Amino acid sequence: MATAVLGMQWGDEGKGKITHLLAREAKMVVRFNGGPNAGHTVIDRGVKFGTHQIPAGAFYPGVMSVLAGGMVIDLAVLRDEYSTIVKHLGGEPELLIADNAHLIMPYHRLLEDLEGSGKTIGTTRRGIGPAYRDRAARIGIRAIDLLNRSRLEKKLSARLALLRRAWPQAESIMALSAADIADELLSFAQPFLPLIGDASMAIEQAMASGDEVLFEGAQGALLDVDYGTYPYVTSSSTVYAGLPHAIGIGNLSVGNRLGVTKAYTTRVGEGPFPTELVGEDGSWLQRAGSEFGVTTGRPRRCGWLDVVALRHATRLNAPTGLAITKLDILTGLQEIKVCRAYRLRGREITTFPTSVEDLALCEPVYETLHGWEDDISNLREYADLPVAAREYLNMLSNALDVPIALVSVGPSPEKTIMTGFDRG
Ligand code: IMP
Repeated sequence: MATAVLGMQWGDEGKGKITHLLAREAKMVVRFNGGPNAGHTVIDRGVKFGTHQIPAGAFYPGVMSVLAGGMVIDLAVLRDEYSTIVKHLGGEPELLIADNAHLIMPYHRLLEDLEGSGKTIGTTRRGIGPAYRDRAARIGIRAIDLLNRSRLEKKLSARLALLRRAWPQAESIMALSAADIADELLSFAQPFLPLIGDASMAIEQAMASGDEVLFEGAQGALLDVDYGTYPYVTSSSTVYAGLPHAIGIGNLSVGNRLGVTKAYTTRVGEGPFPTELVGEDGSWLQRAGSEFGVTTGRPRRCGWLDVVALRHATRLNAPTGLAITKLDILTGLQEIKVCRAYRLRGREITTFPTSVEDLALCEPVYETLHGWEDDISNLREYADLPVAAREYLNMLSNALDVPIALVSVGPSPEKTIMTGFDRG
């Protein structure tokens, strides 16, 4: 049976830990969107990693890790990450790179800086937006282009000609050469050339033979390019609704869809965040939850759980179970607030606004629940959780009409309470 791990908020929900945990039982792990903007924290045999490109399957021998066609790949990051994992494992992980995945080029990062999207949107400045934009404009370079040097150089020359016309004053752009970029790309890509192939077909075959296939989502529903808080979003589809397209399988059916949400909310970058806590309460959560970005080190904005936003994410991800992470961080709070509705222009609404201008005007309507005192980080049974913690989880499960499948009470894999989530 296949499983998908999907973010329900603005990313950073703790998907890395969950996919790493589930990957040990998988035959294939597929990352299907985004690129090195993602930072998945994984603790493998006591060693902490922040993975950006390689799926969590790479930590287990015999598990095929697939970088699917919906991703954008930075070969320099991939090479570094790959060699770190090879050293850690003492062997090479099994990888398959989709031939149609687009590559992040040195000029994509330059463009983000020249255009200032790092400031206006608060992007991770990893070249994600410009790479996806080139894909849509049909001027992108794909993994398959690495297999033919003259074709690669020809495409790069055409792309550079357009860039020079657009940025005649930018020295960094004018200095680029197609031959140099091709040399650099091919040197980074050397170990991966034999691993480039038809990922869609490989995934289809694995699914057809009943293998356990795990889909590892990156970012979260509220960062989806179409259904997130546009324009303060990433450039790919981050939700289950986008998965079939990202892997090129029309009749995809994934039985287990795990919607991952923190027990509170965080967001990095710009954009409205109705339940954001400013001042000491926000700083407290930031410190308690070590809320600093894995990719950029930026402090994350923190706030209470937002059921209105989670309901929107539920429609997009269609979760069959919820994975609640960082519940332990809330221990010690006397009261916990949960946003059940927004007040917008004097009216109470329970739907998530499409316009960020409206979302920015929304004031949260809170319900207050009891907190709990006892340390929960060593608990492994749901029934052992304090009553108030169970009430908090039940409230969320009822509000979204999705059962709780898993509760994470600490960063390492063993600090997990599984609640009978059906994994086939
Ligand atoms: P980009 O994906 O680098 O273009 O950034 C666009 C927006 O998505 C910014 O607000 C980023 O902070 C956010 N973002 C992208 N990837 C992640 C992630 O993995 N976790 C959290 N936020 C992310």
